[in-house]
Amino acid sequence: MKGVILAGGLGTRLYPLTKVTNKHLLPVYNAPMIYYPIRCLVNAGIEDIMIVTGGNNAGDFLRLLGNGKEFGLKHLNYAYQEGEGGIAEALGLTEHFVEGEKVCVVLGDNIIEKNIIGPVKAFEKEKDGAMIILKKVPDPERFGVPVLEGARILRIEEKPMAPASAYAVTGIYMYDRHVYDIIRTLRPSARGELEITDVNNAYIKKGGIVWRELEGWWTDAGTFASLLHANNLVAETGANKA
Ligand code: DAU
Repeated sequence: MKGVILAGGLGTRLYPLTKVTNKHLLPVYNAPMIYYPIRCLVNAGIEDIMIVTGGNNAGDFLRLLGNGKEFGLKHLNYAYQEGEGGIAEALGLTEHFVEGEKVCVVLGDNIIEKNIIGPVKAFEKEKDGAMIILKKVPDPERFGVPVLEGARILRIEEKPMAPASAYAVTGIYMYDRHVYDIIRTLRPSARGELEITDVNNAYIKKGGIVWRELEGWWTDAGTFASLLHANNLVAETGANKA
């Protein structure tokens, strides 16, 4: 399975921290934010990785990460997203790299305490479809939220005012090769982006999605509050543990 890390976007919610650098290069305790999703994939045995970034500081990723030697990698692949057209648009840029294989996507501002090796191995055995990773959170209205009927996901609602469950859809997704065909059918949302939630809802409609609950803590780091929270969690307990 190939790995993709999405680290584009303009990080406007962290302005002025993101005025002269990319959000994913900001520190989270003792490492740049982008280190955590890379370790997440590498710890799950995924070593063929593409990073999608954008903005004025894309070159800094190359200076920081090079070929990924620090993570035990031989090579890292990069793609450039012009503008901020959404998570699904950024994923669409990786089609030539993924080349018909399955892909595990991690958002560049998502940090986990443990690892995703269990779900990754389980999805490798699936014939096709998609897998999403859910986590119970105190503030689901900030995220994609699944509407559940028993263990079945009926649909996902993006940042609902009245969340239908206590789960957030984390920024860790696994897809079969059809994901790129789905992205081609999407239209921009009210916030002008191609939404990853629309991709997941397309898989739900086809009956092709499964989910797992993440072990250990999970956080994003895209707002001042969540960035502070991420720093504290990593400092107190460490991240990406076996
Ligand atoms: O963190 C999980 C949440 O991420 C999910 O629960 C939501 O369903 C999903 O829409 C997303 O929500 P956010 O609004 O928090 O996503 P955000 O715009 O902060 O983007 C998250 C990461 O995705 C960001 O760190 C980099 C990447 N990204 C984002 C955009 C908009 C790109 O690579 N390109 C983009 O154009």
